[in-house]
Amino acid sequence: MSVHKDVKRVTTHTLQAMKDAGEKIAMLTSYDYSLGKIVDDAGIDIILVGDSASNVMAGHETTLPITLDQMIYHASSVVRAIQRCLVVVDLPFGSYQGNSRAALDSSIRIMKESGAHAIKLEGGMEIKESIIRILTAGIPVMGHLGLTPQSIYKFGTYTVRAKEDAEAEKLIEDAKMLEEVGCFALVLEKIPAKLAKRVAEEVSIPVIGIGAGHEVDGQVLVLHDMLGITSEFSPRFLRRYANLYDTIKGAVEQYIDDVRSVDFPNEKEQY
Ligand code: KIV
Repeated sequence: MSVHKDVKRVTTHTLQAMKDAGEKIAMLTSYDYSLGKIVDDAGIDIILVGDSASNVMAGHETTLPITLDQMIYHASSVVRAIQRCLVVVDLPFGSYQGNSRAALDSSIRIMKESGAHAIKLEGGMEIKESIIRILTAGIPVMGHLGLTPQSIYKFGTYTVRAKEDAEAEKLIEDAKMLEEVGCFALVLEKIPAKLAKRVAEEVSIPVIGIGAGHEVDGQVLVLHDMLGITSEFSPRFLRRYANLYDTIKGAVEQYIDDVRSVDFPNEKEQY
């Protein structure tokens, strides 16, 4: 018997049952209705409406510019598309770091206005109070440790995090704190596979990796990267499952040719 096959709607409890049963969790980002529907129909467990929308949807260099209103717009489009998966939404930069009241207000807006099921936020001890306040309101929280792109100007680069012992120990402490306060899962981004394995063994909640090896409880990728819509971003951890950049470009070139040569529309394609 497998947990994921038996559920009509994925909940945070389903994810915990999957970890407990040793079943891997599959998570992808989506930001709109059309792709969200395909991803859900394919059977994904979690859709993350990531603040990576700032990069792949809006063309910004970092995730910092995207606003709470824009995240709610993307999230509500995805929520209208899905029937089965759990939808998690990133709290964008600036919407929760100030104080726990702001963090709660932003989370409530996301839940009320988009209909999503949970929020995700980046960081450990420094945002503990905010996480507790959001959880106390009954909102499920997913943590995010390791490379946290909202802090890119502090890190200076997108290289692998927590290679040194001190940073690795802090990451483990942060992960245990996230579990202890009641987060339902956490994302580990771009850290050594050995460290990710240790975290997944030492915390009981599901640990989802991106660039963190396979000995965690699940994987997440940015949809536009794994579909090959984006081409300029090629980290080692990224596996491309399609080359939609070329497929879409080829289709558009063919359409342009057909319009110019009056091949389109033909007799059957008119009234
Ligand atoms: O915003 C995002 O897409 C993310 C994933 C990379 C985990 O946070």
